[in-house]
Amino acid sequence: MELKKGLERGPFNDDQADKLSVALSGLDSGQLQWLSGYFTGLRQTSLTKTSAKSLPSGSDSTLVDEVKAETIHILFGSHTGNSEGLAKNLYARAEEMGIKAVISDMATFKTRELKSIKKLAVIVSTHGLGEPPVQAEDFFNYLHSKKAPNLAHLQFSVLALGDSSYVDFCQTGKDFDTVLEKLGAQKVVPRQDCDVDYADEAETWQQKFLNAIVQTNGQISAVQVKDLPNNQVNGTQYSRKNLFEATILEKINLNGKGSSKETIHLELDLEGSGIKYEPGDALGVYGANSPKLVQSVLESTNLSGKEEVETHEGNKTLFDALTYNYELTPLSKNTLSEYAALTGNEGLKKILEDKAVIHEYLSGRDILDLLKEVPYKLSSKELISDLRKNTARMYSIASAQEVVEDEVHLLVSVVRYNAFGRNKEGLCSSTLADRLEVGDKVKIFVDKNTRFKLPKNPEVPIIMVGPGTGVAPFRAFMQQREVLERKGPSWLFFGDRNFTTDFLYQTEWQQYLKEGVLTKADVAFSRDQAQKHYVQHRMLENGKELFEWLEKGAHFYVCGDAKKMAKDVDIALKQIIQQQGGITIEKAGEYIKNLQISNRYQADIY
Ligand SMILES: Cc1cc2nc3c(=O)[nH]c(=O)nc-3n(C[C@H](O)[C@H](O)[C@H](O)COP(=O)(O)O)c2cc1C
Repeated sequence: MELKKGLERGPFNDDQADKLSVALSGLDSGQLQWLSGYFTGLRQTSLTKTSAKSLPSGSDSTLVDEVKAETIHILFGSHTGNSEGLAKNLYARAEEMGIKAVISDMATFKTRELKSIKKLAVIVSTHGLGEPPVQAEDFFNYLHSKKAPNLAHLQFSVLALGDSSYVDFCQTGKDFDTVLEKLGAQKVVPRQDCDVDYADEAETWQQKFLNAIVQTNGQISAVQVKDLPNNQVNGTQYSRKNLFEATILEKINLNGKGSSKETIHLELDLEGSGIKYEPGDALGVYGANSPKLVQSVLESTNLSGKEEVETHEGNKTLFDALTYNYELTPLSKNTLSEYAALTGNEGLKKILEDKAVIHEYLSGRDILDLLKEVPYKLSSKELISDLRKNTARMYSIASAQEVVEDEVHLLVSVVRYNAFGRNKEGLCSSTLADRLEVGDKVKIFVDKNTRFKLPKNPEVPIIMVGPGTGVAPFRAFMQQREVLERKGPSWLFFGDRNFTTDFLYQTEWQQYLKEGVLTKADVAFSRDQAQKHYVQHRMLENGKELFEWLEKGAHFYVCGDAKKMAKDVDIALKQIIQQQGGITIEKAGEYIKNLQISNRYQADIY
């Protein structure tokens, strides 16, 4: 290409025109198109830096319109902060590309704004059993109600966060996608469903979304976008995508002799990593399948394990791939449907027709059960392509860095059970309990949880409900309050099976009580008497005082089992508010909702 003198010389002098001519010679049309987008991006960046409002009078008004037209609205619905983190990241990237963006939490979003939004990014997780996070409930219900407006003026895309070990994988994201389309909105890029290791998929979706937004305005984006800051743990090179190998410093079974449970306290060394975490954050830990289970899977498929296979971490022997890169337990819905399609088995297909039957079938089964029940001659490639990628298990951190410095402590309940004629174990907890010893290394990353944090004001009272391993983050809370001399009132509800064998960190709680770091502790040991007692019963017995604490502005925290405990605690709390507040159950529900929306009722449940 040559810049001719005259018309095409544009605003350049002879010298500039000659230099440009040399620089552009030999470029093909694709490269020129890229450059065109690059210059558009540059122009927009400088435009946004001065901001549309502060443009000098007489500026080209079409430029202002261009920026306005590109404004994107990012709406997130998040419970533990992952979707929120990604939304903030998308916001930062958009700004970097010169695209004006607005970000809102679904919890506080004013639905009347929908009328004026043209480009919408929805980033939302799924909780419960296929339900929206509490913070997203009202907006979700509004879109599904008769009040929902026509959205034909709106372009959108959904980034759905979830966990494919749940049957209703990314259900809320799917529901948003469907309802927005039903209301007339047009999809700019397809929905992206993300599993627990969401970094790569989220990044690809973000790039696609932003590029589509720019292109719908007749431009091509070429501004390079930076790596996800959300994946970076402050001040360190280590992240979800670049795991740190932490050495195990200590491993103790906290349950006494004769206990029916096995709960291990782990101390990991972070020295040299620069990793920072805060109480309330979780640690992602990668486990490996037991060699015995890998061998049994190989035997049932008549594969030797020596076959070379391609994995997301490069080529490996099948044995190693099955040990480190794929999950053999638990069985996922995805694996079941892939296997049903591969084998053409009618029985499996029938199971997949009904959610309740799928739940029942998956419960307690692993891949070996499936391979034995429906034998099929699989190739090594078919076997691994049916399996879920090995994903990290998240453990609530049980320490505060102000106290343990270069260490991180975890409380891990070891999962062991018998089902379908075999003894089974949890992938990660059994790795930590049985296959790794002090001195061994384990791959980890910090998973920030912005939604489970101590109140900023140290004087604010806190109520902590954490039976079993649910007590882990509260140990971190207490460590932090002690070292920072934050002695606002604090109340712990702890429960487990038996007092003598299962009172986790008993001496530490007693010491905190003595020092006044912990103001009150109520415990419930379910199997010490004929009638079962749980934390919710202790809450109800203390209803009057608990309500007084809430009325004084206490923050309420619950951590642990999501299926039963957290639901029972929620019911008890509602009952207390109803009785002590002298209000209806509906009003008590609203009271709870307000606590949740204002982050005064925080849950870390699993
Ligand atoms: C109690 C609980 C229930 C969950 N239920 C589901 C589910 O039904 N389907 C799903 O795909 N993911 C489910 N998840 C996984 C979350 O969607 C996933 O962890 C997501 O990254 C959380 O994003 P957030 O931090 O923005 O809320 C559940 C997680 C928890 C803790």
